[in-house]
Amino acid sequence: MMTKFVSNIHRQTSPQWPADTVAAFTAPDISAVHRSLSEYRPTPLLSLPNLAHELTVGEILVKDESHRFRLKAFKALGSAYSIYRFVRQYLERPGRQCPPADQFYRESTLPKGTFVFCTATDGNHGRGVAWIARQLSQRAVIYMPTNSAHARIENIRKEGAEVVVVDGSYDDAVARCAKDAHARGWQIISDTSWPGYEEIPRWIQAGYLTMFEEIHADNDAGFDIVIVPAGVGALAAAAAWYYNCVYPEPRPKLVSVEPVGADCLLQSIVSETGEPVSLKGQFASIMAGLNCGTPSTIAWPFVKRGFDLFMTVTDDAAREAMRTYYRSTGDDPRIISGESGASGLAALLTLCNESSVAADDARAFLSLSPSTKVLLLNTEGDTDSEGFGEIVL
Ligand SMILES: Cc1ncc(COP(=O)(O)O)c(C=O)c1O
Repeated sequence: MMTKFVSNIHRQTSPQWPADTVAAFTAPDISAVHRSLSEYRPTPLLSLPNLAHELTVGEILVKDESHRFRLKAFKALGSAYSIYRFVRQYLERPGRQCPPADQFYRESTLPKGTFVFCTATDGNHGRGVAWIARQLSQRAVIYMPTNSAHARIENIRKEGAEVVVVDGSYDDAVARCAKDAHARGWQIISDTSWPGYEEIPRWIQAGYLTMFEEIHADNDAGFDIVIVPAGVGALAAAAAWYYNCVYPEPRPKLVSVEPVGADCLLQSIVSETGEPVSLKGQFASIMAGLNCGTPSTIAWPFVKRGFDLFMTVTDDAAREAMRTYYRSTGDDPRIISGESGASGLAALLTLCNESSVAADDARAFLSLSPSTKVLLLNTEGDTDSEGFGEIVL
């Protein structure tokens, strides 16, 4: 299957979203909650001048989430913030006490075993939920698709969670998790949303803002293009909010990247109604975190009005990007990047190197030139160490 590039006809220049849908994004306590985790450190923002020179762009900066906590992916920012908000609601009832946000995880007052947290995951989000549940001495049950990498399953078990491998895709795991949670009174902490289940996914999206705050605390030079890996679109929603409503003008162009064949955001953008569509069938991309067939309903309005270009990349492009990061160009720093994490660089390599009319149009649309400054998000490191070894080493 071929890569695709779609410029967004639904893009608005200064999008506005209803107040109730942006409330979580404007919460004042997001970074304080993250700082209350003893393992919290801002992740590095790395410059790759030699690669930029080779690709004939002005600058490439990479936010390197392979250093996030010890989980090697940005996802736990969402589980940490959403579980805090959920537990805070519980602890703010009469007779209970909730520590302030900036001490929340250091001084938890939640009795052991109060909740069972559950979620579906292709790896990273579930690991984050399991990690946070363990810090609060709660139980976690994590549902994973049948083709999940062994290393990713084990990583979640090592956090003390029970793993249920569902016979089917990520979307099947989401459905099974919701069914079991309903039957057993468990609390779903899902990064995707559906009609009637929205509050927690909004807090998860809001938790991702810490990544963008860190980037711009370190760096006041503007970007021309930000490339965002997309699965259900929750990270993309946070990027849409940040770069359209928080970041000052001139604003960068936002590019969503999905695997060829698991491009539910791109297909929703080109759909007749402009509303989210669910893709049918199994998704077999090695970019496990992006292997999703259904956009998150609450993410969609942000992505639909706030992104400029939607594109897909092949698994081969992701492999090449993992190797490019690892081998590094000249004395650029080495970066450890997993399959989904490398998709942003895969998109940039595709944009710079593909010779096709569609790629020409995309380059022109993005005004890609030798002075363009690009931000990439390496959203994960070697979260599947076996797969990483086979592809890179
Ligand atoms: C490493 C990585 N990058 C990107 C994403 C995409 O995030 P979202 O599903 O919010 O679009 C995921 C999702 O699991 C992921 O694990």
